[in-house]
Amino acid sequence: MKDKAILTYDGKSYELPVIHGSEGDKAIDITNLRKDIGLTTFDPGFGNTGSCKSSITFMDGDKGILRHCGIPIEQLAEHSSFVETAYLLINSELPKKDELERFSSMLNDHSLVHEDMRSFFENFPRRAHPMGILSSMVNSLMAFYPEIPEKTEDEQINITFARLLSKVRSLAAMSYKISRGHKLVYPSNRLSYCANFLNMMFDSPVRPYVIEEDLVHALNVFWILHADHEQNCSTSAVRLVGSARVNIYAAISAGVAALWGPLHGGANQAVIEMLQLIYDSGGDITPFIAKAKDKNDSFRLMGFGHRVYKTYDPRAKIMKKMCDTVLKQQKKNNPLLGIAKRLEEVALKDSYFIEHNLYPNVDFYSGIVLTALGIPRNMFPVMFAIGRLPGWISQWRESIDDPHWRLHRPRQVYIGAKKRDYVPIDKRV
Ligand code: CMC
Repeated sequence: MKDKAILTYDGKSYELPVIHGSEGDKAIDITNLRKDIGLTTFDPGFGNTGSCKSSITFMDGDKGILRHCGIPIEQLAEHSSFVETAYLLINSELPKKDELERFSSMLNDHSLVHEDMRSFFENFPRRAHPMGILSSMVNSLMAFYPEIPEKTEDEQINITFARLLSKVRSLAAMSYKISRGHKLVYPSNRLSYCANFLNMMFDSPVRPYVIEEDLVHALNVFWILHADHEQNCSTSAVRLVGSARVNIYAAISAGVAALWGPLHGGANQAVIEMLQLIYDSGGDITPFIAKAKDKNDSFRLMGFGHRVYKTYDPRAKIMKKMCDTVLKQQKKNNPLLGIAKRLEEVALKDSYFIEHNLYPNVDFYSGIVLTALGIPRNMFPVMFAIGRLPGWISQWRESIDDPHWRLHRPRQVYIGAKKRDYVPIDKRV
């Protein structure tokens, strides 16, 4: 196995170590490049930069493969629950029965949110986006749940993880209820993680919520599909902010903020708004495909394309099937699904999309599933955030335990003005 790459620069050759991942990934280790040769590397958007070694998630973007701790996403979506997948990501192994029971009961134990946090919600403007609110609330958790000195470090970490997983879900449902001016519904220890969320969102004193197992299953799958995706933008934000050794709540709050963007977790809301726009304008997809291909138009086909996948996103395949299943089970029809399928069919035969390797990603069909669950559109990115929590937590933990850990501090290539003298204000021309 070759383990050196040769770099020739300015008439001299330098050997750079090559490191090998367990699934055939190879990377040139440039850690000492600047020190030894005076060169840095340039990679806008870090599209070809490995920022860490990780054993959590494996992706092959050319083959459309996604595995968590070795287990294919298709198997997790079919057989696992969101709570079990969260355990897997955080602990690297599937839980035994008693371990899963302990983990689930810890989530129940930490599901309540400090009553004083309610007043925060009440002071946000009614039209504030739930992702901005969620990011602030997650950051403020540290003030309400500081370290517990009498617990060991491991116990503290486990409690913090359970708090995050459980309370963020409760906070999300609370924000919805408060935005509607409705009475809050508290979590119940009798309900599973996903059933609890649906109940907190939709139960009301005038119309008790009837939990439907089909919808609980759909939500489990939806969250499993979002659980982790290696070094994506929000996870990189969590690792970067966490690398300054801030508390985990602050690091995850940064992740929520990054996820909000329409190119990342905000894409699920953007997709449904795009499908609605097409529907409202008569259902003809042709002008939208043309706009997406037009270099002079900033419009993009939302829910299409991915930095890593150059083929069909395996999560999108599962999500597409889920749309059909849930709508059939609910005996509902959503005309936006027809538009989405037409867009996909046309785009996948179009030379622009073929040449640019643009395929549906996880967000393309997810809004249809969320609509069937009754989730309002501005909460879609929040649903993504709850799903991504196990990933953020496990990646944060891995970075904290990493023996090669360093403060994240990328370099730049400076292209600004050369040294010049300060000019007093009355002498400036
Ligand atoms: N519609 C039309 N053209 C596109 C699209 C799209 N959705 N995505 C990429 N392109 C074109 C882009 O114009 C560029 O063309 P050219 O090379 O001719 O200038 C080329 O493809 C490469 O685009 P890029 O922006 O350099 O690629 P990227 O890897 O930086 O972008 C992306 C990845 C996801 C930001 C992008 O595909 C996009 O904006 N998609 C729409 C938003 C979206 O669905 N985001 C959700 C991503 S999946 C969930 C998640 O992980 O957050």
